[in-house]
Amino acid sequence: MHLGRTTLSKFLIENLSGTPDGADLAALLVDVAAAVKAIAALSARGALGGATGSLDTVNVQGETQKPLDVLSNTAFVNTFQLGGLVAGVASEEMDDPFPIRAPHKRGPFLAIFDPLDGSSNIDGNVSVGSIFSILRAPAKGEPQTADYLQSGSSQVAAGYALYGPATLLVITVGNGTHGFTLDREIGNFILTHRDIKIPADTSEFAINTSNERFWEPPVTRYINECKAGKTGPRERDFNMRWIASMVAEVHRILIRGGIFMYPRDNKDPSKPGRLRLMYEANPMSMIVEQAGGLSSTGRERIMDVVPTQIHQRIPVILGSRNEVERVVHYHQQFDSGTDQSYKSPLFSERGLYRS
Ligand code: F6P
Ligand code: MN
Repeated sequence: MHLGRTTLSKFLIENLSGTPDGADLAALLVDVAAAVKAIAALSARGALGGATGSLDTVNVQGETQKPLDVLSNTAFVNTFQLGGLVAGVASEEMDDPFPIRAPHKRGPFLAIFDPLDGSSNIDGNVSVGSIFSILRAPAKGEPQTADYLQSGSSQVAAGYALYGPATLLVITVGNGTHGFTLDREIGNFILTHRDIKIPADTSEFAINTSNERFWEPPVTRYINECKAGKTGPRERDFNMRWIASMVAEVHRILIRGGIFMYPRDNKDPSKPGRLRLMYEANPMSMIVEQAGGLSSTGRERIMDVVPTQIHQRIPVILGSRNEVERVVHYHQQFDSGTDQSYKSPLFSERGLYRS
């Protein structure tokens, strides 16, 4: 039983009342939780709920949509439209932002979201998630696309839901990162992970190594050093994970540390990265920074990047502070031509990692 424990609503009232727009923001996050509960129920039914398989439609990213992508998008859009707390929404699954119009009430925020992250994992019954970012709407009028293009540092709240063995909601309103677990019998999110802190050091990395031949030298250097383990310059063994659900990856890092990378690569020169700035990189960066970690493109802080497009892609390197700093340092050395790493025997012309 959770009697006496802190529910999401109680937490939000305690943390937001008295701040400007605080009551509205608290109410909006309760709406997010309502949409998350609906998606959790749908995804938990798996094939019984018709959520598996693919549709014939393709989203703006060129990805084949899954039934659960579309159902999750509808759950968020409908919740926000009826809630009266946002002036517009933008989503991975919609080409253009969607303004809230009469008879619905317009609110003071903009919501941007990835309704179902990691959806390639649905049919395999592997964890998926939702990611959201909350920005302030313009004071007057219907929001235009330009109104959404705010840097991550302007986010007033961000978070994700993880549909795993348990359903979790992890949020930040700018005073730390806090995790709530859904008590399914009662239907409440209960505060179970207060003020999560990512360990500064780690021996675990997450990257899709099938892209290795497309990486830049500083990323190859970092991963080769991890793989060299005790016999390499890091003098300790590393472990690797790749779930292919960013939400699950970030959650693991919040719980036990780690570094996650989807770096810049030259696989498709028109795409500077795989992940999307506005509804993947920015909200996850706020969550990670509020938990004491770092989030960078390798060359700049992600939350300082001024977006130019809603669906823009960006390189992402985030997680344990000391490891992210190391990768950023390797980029600096590479860019300034001061990278001496290849002189070490391990990486020399005849060494283990150069042919
Ligand atoms: O939304 C993009 C995403 O599905 C992330 O959740 C995940 O980290 C990544 O793409 C997986 O990429 P890949 O298919 O290259 O492993
Ligand atoms: Mn995604």
